[in-house]
Amino acid sequence: MLNNGLGEILKTEARSASRIVDLFCGGASVSWFAAANLGKPVLACDLQHYAAVLAGSVVKRTRPVQAPMIEELWLSHAAQSRSRLKRWRQAKELDSTKIRTETWRRSAQELCSLDTVTKSALIWRCYGGHYFSPTQALSFDAMLRTLPDDGELREICLAATIIAASRCVAAPGHTAQPFKATQTAARYLREAWVRNPFQYARAALDEICPLYASKPGGAEVADANQIAKNLKPDDMVFVDPPYSAVQYSRFYHVLETIARGASSEVEGVGRYPPYKERPNSCYSRKGGSRQAIHNLLCTLAANGCTVVLTFPQAKCSNGLSGDEIEEMARQLFYVRRRSVETCFSTLGGNTKIRTARKVSDELILVLKSR
Ligand SMILES: C[S@@+](CC[C@H](N)C(=O)[O-])C[C@H]1O[C@@H](n2cnc3c(N)ncnc32)[C@H](O)[C@@H]1O
Repeated sequence: MLNNGLGEILKTEARSASRIVDLFCGGASVSWFAAANLGKPVLACDLQHYAAVLAGSVVKRTRPVQAPMIEELWLSHAAQSRSRLKRWRQAKELDSTKIRTETWRRSAQELCSLDTVTKSALIWRCYGGHYFSPTQALSFDAMLRTLPDDGELREICLAATIIAASRCVAAPGHTAQPFKATQTAARYLREAWVRNPFQYARAALDEICPLYASKPGGAEVADANQIAKNLKPDDMVFVDPPYSAVQYSRFYHVLETIARGASSEVEGVGRYPPYKERPNSCYSRKGGSRQAIHNLLCTLAANGCTVVLTFPQAKCSNGLSGDEIEEMARQLFYVRRRSVETCFSTLGGNTKIRTARKVSDELILVLKSR
């Protein structure tokens, strides 16, 4: 959408603002765009840690960083640390043996359940033999173990680990469940398990390092409705709230574990952490989403903020539609509306829609205080 009208609207509305606030920053593409292009500090927020790390790796930093320098400092150290492990040899041997995918998956799970590598074997313990092959799991653990101490570099490297994991993960886009070694899915499992995490981390560094903010900003793990209470009339607020009735934490828990560097015992086919460790949003509850967005709009209107809000026009699974949000907003703001065709993620689909992406009409609403 940034190339489909949203980017231009943000540029226009940012002119009179002192700060840009991205309240539901998710994958951080809007926060990155705003920090690099709008000439104002960006405050990004999300309930999920991984989202705040991705946003923070760019919006806090006002100069580019040399990717080769970080590769040298971090990834070469991670590779050495990995190669010293006893399990590395076993993992390499298993992952390079030509066997049926189902046998590979079973042996990988057996190997990774021998949880004796070290205490810091988080990815090995939680996801080895499921979302990641044994060598991939050891690679991600080594990356996490060797993150630089310096705060800025650490956040860049953690963001690169998150991006690399999201690109290597053996799951259909989101991590609700790993691919199984069935007749139809085995080839996807295999394709994903042979991806080299270091190669993807390098590519992610090449993407992140040249980006930087024109003014230093911030990123927080927080509830949007709480953050909104402290916003000011000269804040331009971008609002892209959840449209799914299933909690986002169901789809991003692997990335969340990486960002937090911790997880209690995982369980089930999806390898979920305990319920209390998964961020829970009232926007993804059918019975709570209407009140949540209404409260947010009331707070932003009372604080005199300018708002750019995007939402699918038609009714979504959390019970909200762009049309209904527009109607609510008209009670509180002057509203300008634009409709664009876009392709949004179905978060793995539902019983009717099995495709990963669906074309929809998306509303971009510009809300000005009365
Ligand atoms: C539609 S996605 C945003 C996508 C984002 N604009 C991007 O470019 O990737 C919605 C996001 O809202 C977050 N979220 C859900 N409830 C929230 C809340 N109460 N406060 C802050 N973030 C929330 C979810 O974790 C998810 O990342």
